[in-house]
Amino acid sequence: MFFVPEIIEKKKRGLKLSKEEIEFIVNGYVAGKIPDYQVSALLMAIYFKGMDEEETTNLTMAMAYSGEIVDFSSIEGIKVDKHSTGGIADTTTLVLLPLAASVGVKVAKMSGRGLGHTGGTIDKLESIPGFRCELGDKEFIDAVNTIGAAITGQSKNLVPADKMLYALRDVTATVDSIPLIASSIMSKKIAGGADKIILDVKFGNGAFMKNYEDALKLGTLMVKIGQLAGRETVAYITDMDQPLGLAIGNTIEVIEAAETLKGRGHKDLLSLCLEFASEMMILAQVEKDKNKAVERLEASIDSGKALDKLKEIIASQGGNPEVLEDYSLLPKAKYELEVKAPADGFVKQIDAVRLGLASMKIGAGRQKKEDIIDPAVGIWIYKKVGEEVTKGEPFAKILANDKEKLTWAADEARAAFEFSREPKEKRKVIWAKITKNGVSEL
Ligand code: URA
Ligand code: CA
Repeated sequence: MFFVPEIIEKKKRGLKLSKEEIEFIVNGYVAGKIPDYQVSALLMAIYFKGMDEEETTNLTMAMAYSGEIVDFSSIEGIKVDKHSTGGIADTTTLVLLPLAASVGVKVAKMSGRGLGHTGGTIDKLESIPGFRCELGDKEFIDAVNTIGAAITGQSKNLVPADKMLYALRDVTATVDSIPLIASSIMSKKIAGGADKIILDVKFGNGAFMKNYEDALKLGTLMVKIGQLAGRETVAYITDMDQPLGLAIGNTIEVIEAAETLKGRGHKDLLSLCLEFASEMMILAQVEKDKNKAVERLEASIDSGKALDKLKEIIASQGGNPEVLEDYSLLPKAKYELEVKAPADGFVKQIDAVRLGLASMKIGAGRQKKEDIIDPAVGIWIYKKVGEEVTKGEPFAKILANDKEKLTWAADEARAAFEFSREPKEKRKVIWAKITKNGVSEL
């Protein structure tokens, strides 16, 4: 027999919880038998006393099995999922999906919608006229088997324990606990049917983890959970101290993905996509040699195969693939405004959250519901940290459907960019890779 106050007491004193105690709490909470106030107290005890790898793995598994488990066994091959902890203008998935599929990796992507200042991949794809992201199970699996990739919204019954615990953490100031974040993310990946997992753990002003050390701790813990759960996991620690690539906004990120697949993308975004896609090839066992994997991916971009794969994915999900050749078929904002540098100098810093929020707010509210985002709006940035600007040179462009919001967002962009007279080093994108064998700094 378990008694909730005893379990809370145990964690309060920093003792280790057993697998059975953890399962009792998770199952009892999801079943409505344990009230919020007891779970809140336990979460706070976990926040202060932590959990070791074994406890965190047990929590992850109890959460993962609290609802439906996705079964991808009817998709041939090893299924590798890539997950990002969230960032600004993260166009990676839009590029990665077709790129990896174009060289023979099977990609069954379940994706969420945007949260707060980060747009979700689904929101971006829905800016393509006709594109459908709500696929039935059979339709989804058939598409992955025939085309090699498909993307769908997350099933409603996936990890109910996480939905409940996350909502409770949100109102009890217990979100930023590394074991709680790790179990939240990994439970969803495990329930989501992946055989192997690639994690993009971002750090910086635009990310959940504000510094490198915490990101490294989180990544290391998740790799360990993956190993204990029998799902090989590789984590990358990557920069989110400025937006990724140049586009921030749903439609323009589709354009940015198309440009990247045409070989004209920003090198930060491209390098990240090549690293993740080549790692996917290794994990899925479609290629043994990392350098060869990268060569094959580059060849796929050069030959147009990767772009064609995105067209196939779009067409198979009801969208018009011509948008990738003729961007005027995509939603277009009525107004544009370039924002110009006040003086000669260098970009010292970019407040990614401020830009991400501005990009969302230009589009919010136009279609009555505050949370519906106008897909056409956004912000292109022309300059990244360390790049030189001359007085009067545009460093960003605002796209809006409303003149007031246009000038407001231009002010936000001016405030988000900090310039200096002195040269400033460019930021590297990939900082470290964590595998079961340890950390390698890159
Ligand atoms: N992302 C998640 O899915 N869960 C967390 O707790 C934090 C980030
Ligand atoms: Ca981007």
